[in-house]
Amino acid sequence: MATNLSVSFTGLRFENPFLLASAPPTESENNIMRAFDAGWGGVVTKTIGLHPVVDVAGPKTTFLSATPDSPNLSIRKRPGTALHSSWNWELISDKTLDWWMPRIARIKKAHPTRVLVASIMAGSGNDNELGHWQTLAKACQDEGADALELNLSCPHMDRVDMGSNIGKDAQLISTVTRAVKEVARVPVWAKLTPSTTDVVVEARGAFLGGADAITSSNTFPSLPLIDPETLEFEVNVDGLISLGGLGGPAILPLSLAKMAQLTQAFPGRAFSGIGGIAEFGHALNYFLLGCGTVQVCTAAMLDHAIGPNIIKDLKSGMAEAMERNGWTSLDDFIGQRRDRIVAHSKIRRQDPEAYHGGYEAGQAKG
Ligand SMILES: Cc1cc2nc3c(=O)[nH]c(=O)nc-3n(C[C@H](O)[C@H](O)[C@H](O)COP(=O)(O)O)c2cc1C
Repeated sequence: MATNLSVSFTGLRFENPFLLASAPPTESENNIMRAFDAGWGGVVTKTIGLHPVVDVAGPKTTFLSATPDSPNLSIRKRPGTALHSSWNWELISDKTLDWWMPRIARIKKAHPTRVLVASIMAGSGNDNELGHWQTLAKACQDEGADALELNLSCPHMDRVDMGSNIGKDAQLISTVTRAVKEVARVPVWAKLTPSTTDVVVEARGAFLGGADAITSSNTFPSLPLIDPETLEFEVNVDGLISLGGLGGPAILPLSLAKMAQLTQAFPGRAFSGIGGIAEFGHALNYFLLGCGTVQVCTAAMLDHAIGPNIIKDLKSGMAEAMERNGWTSLDDFIGQRRDRIVAHSKIRRQDPEAYHGGYEAGQAKG
């Protein structure tokens, strides 16, 4: 009998806990249909907004690779390199809400058992902007979206009341989440930015606003490298660059650290893990820390645009791990390594008697 990979997350049933993240793999009806045909348990649409979107006049995404026998890192294509990261400065979907609405309905009709999450984004500077969140939420759920993911994390916004600028302000996160919850009939996930000091603060804001789950991480703020020969950024438009987002293998350990902080602070809550996942072993890290689903972007982009081989590996890897360990469902291993992360002073010392967390012996702490 085939292993049952299904999970329940924020009250929704997923055939498997693997989703495509909001990004180019989910930017079109055709891609999402292909993704479901390939076996993804869910997809989060490319973020849908109401404001005008015009992308930069150049490549929106590039891939940085490393040479095994040298410290060289570059976006230049060279033989024998390994992927280090993706770098992007792509804005949200350039398609309108009107374009998305019939497509959401058609996708759900074709794949009623798969989970379609609509990613949405608006401003937060005034009541009118909060109304935009509600307009987006109502339209997507009315067309059949199973859940909403609030993009509080896009790193490329000049607007101070949008994207990761909301995600850096716990109060604004609460306000936006509450506005969406007022109209939502489906679960609401808040996607947070990793570019804050303590992501637990922003997560608390989201939960106070009524979020059903936290998604983490979006990409990490970063720059492409300067080419030492030309002295130009490897990615630029007319010589100019702005901060973009790093994804892929380079952010896996960074995203895991963010997730560990979150799941330790809120052990009973729902988390969807993202960042650097390309095979089941990576996803397992997120599950063992306490995630109920995981999402993939960079690895899927590089695998026929929607990751048919990646999802195959994720599913077979999970089935094998469950069989090997005698697990019957994700409930048997979710969060199993969450409590292994402790304060540095709790780690056994070379001389256990000699270390007091950086204090003198007998000195009061704090
Ligand atoms: C080209 C590109 C576009 C993206 N667009 C969005 C977006 O519209 N909304 C969003 O929430 N995240 C967006 N992301 C972030 C991804 O969903 C994901 O959080 C991030 O890439 C980390 O996952 P990864 O390491 O698997 O790439 C984008 C990422 C990339 C590379």
